[in-house]
Amino acid sequence: MSTGRYRAVLTGATGGIGQQFALALAPACSAMLLVGRDSEKLAALRQCLQTAHPDLRVELVAADLGDEVGRERVLQVAKAFPGGINLLINNAGISDFHAFSGQSGAVVESLLKTNLLSPILLCQKFMPLLLAGKGAQIVNVGSVFGDIGYPGFAVYCASKFGLRGFTQALRRELSDSAVRVRYFAPRATRTGINSSAVNAMNAELKTQSDEPQLVAKAFMEFLAGDKNEQVLGWPEKFYVVLNRLRSQITDNAIGKQLAIIKRHLPN
Ligand SMILES: NC(=O)c1ccc[n+]([C@@H]2O[C@H](COP(=O)([O-])OP(=O)(O)OC[C@H]3O[C@@H](n4cnc5c(N)ncnc54)[C@H](OP(=O)(O)O)[C@@H]3O)[C@@H](O)[C@H]2O)c1
Repeated sequence: MSTGRYRAVLTGATGGIGQQFALALAPACSAMLLVGRDSEKLAALRQCLQTAHPDLRVELVAADLGDEVGRERVLQVAKAFPGGINLLINNAGISDFHAFSGQSGAVVESLLKTNLLSPILLCQKFMPLLLAGKGAQIVNVGSVFGDIGYPGFAVYCASKFGLRGFTQALRRELSDSAVRVRYFAPRATRTGINSSAVNAMNAELKTQSDEPQLVAKAFMEFLAGDKNEQVLGWPEKFYVVLNRLRSQITDNAIGKQLAIIKRHLPN
């Protein structure tokens, strides 16, 4: 049995960032529960983790987190970990780069369900297990777009702003308990979540894009540190603070990019 301190649940484990989180987190874990929808990717990831860490317990749940049945399966597997779990990472997410006026209602619902409602309901489902432990943490994975409203991402931004607000409120609600609730916000990262249109727009705007390995390294530093919230990258950190203090200045800066953004928006 591995002696790592974390017994972790990681959603979105099959994705670009999630896979790197799993690899980086594994040495610090005694048990991991990896969640995604693609069972083949999950199995390959487990193989990789157990080759490197033979004593690590790795469980898999292939499930749609938008379904109550899927979320319940995650809880039931986690409950079987000796000592329960002490780290819940809500990392699963989707994106859609589209002019709001042309975005379908189904996509709007899906964005809000996957990025906001599902992590909220998963947190709620795990609350008794987390509160019963000696010290647990929830880390919700947001985005720079959880602070900065950006054209072409209105509903994605709404979902991440919502997740950040939920995280902050729950942290304060649980501040007299042993459960910490934290928020980790990457900036643009090179994964499959970004369409070719987004990648082309980022290239033209010279928007920095991180490798997921770098995001995972920053995540491990965040986990080991004291901060409740972390935004990655410069100048993004600066714009986040500026946007909170003087949103008009950010309006003007993004306004200068609008013609380029619109040129990359899908029809
Ligand atoms: N990449 C970026 O530029 C960027 C920037 C800021 C923040 N983020 C955030 O970082 C997180 C990870 O993103 P990523 O870049 O790694 O994206 P990704 O490569 O597309 O991975 C997304 C992950 O979420 C899972 N997922 C999506 N919908 C799900 C559902 N209904 N039920 C269960 N799992 C579901 C996917 O599972 P399957 O593949 O198995 O279906 C996959 O594991 C997201 O929350 C995203 O918003 C990303």
